[in-house]
Amino acid sequence: MSTLQQLTPREFKLVTKFIYDRTGIFIPEEKLALVSNRLRKRLRALKLETFMDYYDLLAKGGSALDEELPHFLSAVTTNETYFFRNTKLWELFSGDLLTRLIELKEKRKSLAIWSAACSSGAEAYTVSICLNEAKQKLKGWRLTVVGTDISSRVLDQAREGIYNEYAVSKCSDSRVRVNFKKIGEDQYQLRDNIRSMATFKFHNLRDQMKSTFDFVLLRNVMMYFDTPMKATVVRNIAAAMTPGGLLYAGDVDPIRSTLDLKDFPEIEYVQPFIYRRTDVAAKS
Ligand SMILES: C[S@@+](CC[C@H](N)C(=O)[O-])C[C@H]1O[C@@H](n2cnc3c(N)ncnc32)[C@H](O)[C@@H]1O
Repeated sequence: MSTLQQLTPREFKLVTKFIYDRTGIFIPEEKLALVSNRLRKRLRALKLETFMDYYDLLAKGGSALDEELPHFLSAVTTNETYFFRNTKLWELFSGDLLTRLIELKEKRKSLAIWSAACSSGAEAYTVSICLNEAKQKLKGWRLTVVGTDISSRVLDQAREGIYNEYAVSKCSDSRVRVNFKKIGEDQYQLRDNIRSMATFKFHNLRDQMKSTFDFVLLRNVMMYFDTPMKATVVRNIAAAMTPGGLLYAGDVDPIRSTLDLKDFPEIEYVQPFIYRRTDVAAKS
């Protein structure tokens, strides 16, 4: 039986397999100390003595697992995010990409955008801020912004819409003034007009999404997945896109260099980071 110090290699294997099976997140051996630290907090919260006790609780399933799973997923995920992450993307979004999306949906006048793996919501709300800034062009349009994640902790933070200085550090002063209310030394609350534009829900990228989107952001998450999971994620995302819709895959989430696009006729490469949903029916 191990002490609370560190997962043994065997325990690490058991736990990381459990993580992989649930989330598709692949954790290499060099992260043993990190995973140990994160799980130690759960042991303390549950007053358990050993990592094996904790693993047994997870493996047993049933109501104990149902209760623990949200905490477990929140503990093992990395949730770094902030507003206007990658300034160039947001310039592109507010310019060329939005023009293309408006052309695509001119008839229906509705635009649905998905921040897939949204963490605490900064990405989805950055979309809301950009759409709000383009409100003249989008007059009379129905706008939907959805953020999804597997960590219920970050989803709660997203719904709350309160951020620290770090999260808004890439917003210009005027954007901070217009879109946030300073409510404390290091606390910025999103204004209601922006907060009400986005909704958040639990979704595992391993599963199919039921709704359909015209633009999907997939950033800073694919690096946690192995190749089979990456393929599953791309298929699931493509299946949730309108033909002609666009996918933005971040620079650490390359699709073309890890997957052979010939196997994915439902998407085509357009330009760096951008893919378009083709008319080919998606495989499920
Ligand atoms: C580093 S954050 C990226 C946040 C945001 N996209 C950005 O670029 O700022 C990665 C997020 O992916 C989520 N995640 C990891 N595996 C996932 C899965 N299988 N399904 C959905 N979300 C997942 C994590 O919970 C985490 O919040």
